[in-house]
Amino acid sequence: MLEAFLYVGFPYLALTLLVVGTAYRFLFRRYTVSSLSSQVLESRALAFGSVPWHLGILVVLAGHLLPFLAPGLWQSLVASAAALLVIEVVGMAAAILAFLGIVVLLARRVLVARLQGVTTAVDLVVLILLAAQVLLGILVAALYPWGAAWAPGTLMRYLHGLFTLSPDMLLVSEMPAAIKAHVVLAFGLFALVPFSRLVHAFVVPLEYLVRPFQRVIWTNVRRAERLSELPGGDPEEGRRGLVRGLAGVGGAMALMAIGVFDKLARFVKGDSMSKQEKETLLSHKLERLEQTAEQRSLELERMRTTLIPVAKLGDLKSASGKYFIDFEMRAALAFKDELGVPILISAKCTHLGCTVGSQVDDQGRILCPCHVSYFNVKTGQPNEGAPAKAPLPHLAWALRAPDGKVVASRAPGGEIQGTFNPELVDHDVCVTQASERGEA
Ligand code: HEM
Ligand code: FES
Repeated sequence: MLEAFLYVGFPYLALTLLVVGTAYRFLFRRYTVSSLSSQVLESRALAFGSVPWHLGILVVLAGHLLPFLAPGLWQSLVASAAALLVIEVVGMAAAILAFLGIVVLLARRVLVARLQGVTTAVDLVVLILLAAQVLLGILVAALYPWGAAWAPGTLMRYLHGLFTLSPDMLLVSEMPAAIKAHVVLAFGLFALVPFSRLVHAFVVPLEYLVRPFQRVIWTNVRRAERLSELPGGDPEEGRRGLVRGLAGVGGAMALMAIGVFDKLARFVKGDSMSKQEKETLLSHKLERLEQTAEQRSLELERMRTTLIPVAKLGDLKSASGKYFIDFEMRAALAFKDELGVPILISAKCTHLGCTVGSQVDDQGRILCPCHVSYFNVKTGQPNEGAPAKAPLPHLAWALRAPDGKVVASRAPGGEIQGTFNPELVDHDVCVTQASERGEA
């Protein structure tokens, strides 16, 4: 019950608050949609906190958004070990930068006397929660590395389910505590957006780039002198730091914009592509369409049938498995034992959801490479001390003759029904929907 609230009810509540509350502030409290800059009161710590915070968190959030918005592209990216390593290192560096930045921002609000008067309780709560969220993220990335590889199959599917109104809370509720806390706190922060300065994240102040520079001139000469003597007392110095930071972000965005301009230029110039370029482009598009079509037809096939052929009995091996997609659209593997009996087992690691390898070692185990869990193919059980604690579930199978008749079947943990003969090499081994998943 609590879990259903935390992973389904609360996220919807938070997202509703986020959308409705933000829209309300835009429509009826437009002039409160601001970060309420305190630069004029204190600028040095602001620059040392704000620039790393914004640079770091933008990179981190881009790394969260991309796998969610373009899962196909992300999967092909992280399929390369080198790219995965770069993503992990950049993500961690950006997270540490963001954490240092937010600690400075928090310390500044607490310690600088001039800011205490303009700092509300909500400001402090938001800063503390943001720091906690970033720290949790760092903890998750450190304790459960290769998140870029395991999260798309679990957490990103959970998020996708939320947005397509078919949430699957099991994808989170079976995760370790740090990950669950990271997800719930994220929604907590989303809920706080309309009630805090965080709402400024939705405003990209582009006019600031072209608007004439504003100078703050102190009419009190003694105060102005005192301020310029203080370290960081010159508000322009802080502003220059911020501008330098933004220039860095701008540079990165300019690089991305080159792609967009290239497309625009092609559009304006018209048909300037060579025949070969066009062919390559079209074949890429076709490839992507074919992948989508294949995915959809697989989903449809799984909805319409209770039996999906995996391989001919004669093609199954003991030393290496054959991958297939089960009824839940998850990766699974098919083997045969020493008597030639099929073994169908889920290939979704019960630790954090990476796909388990298909090669069987000399102890009859398959390996999940993400955090090294070995699973016994026959029992599904992980090795002692493995990060995965639960066994890989076995799947029910049926043996179908070429004329379509089912001659034998087996539910996980059950006996073989019908007549099984390992000589029936031309028969199809099918995964069946009929029975529940479970241990053999
Ligand atoms: C307020 C929103 C969020 C913030 C500020 C945040 C921040 C972070 C940070 C700083 C990291 C460590 C750096 C990294 O590896 O990228 C991280 C990691 C991670 N976050 Fe979040 N996060 C947020 C929301 C979410 C949500 C909603 C999910 C998924 C449902 C999520 C899933 C993850 C995962 C799986 C990692 C580990 C990535 C890895 O190991 O490479 N985060 N997060
Ligand atoms: S996902 Fe961690 S061991 Fe498999």
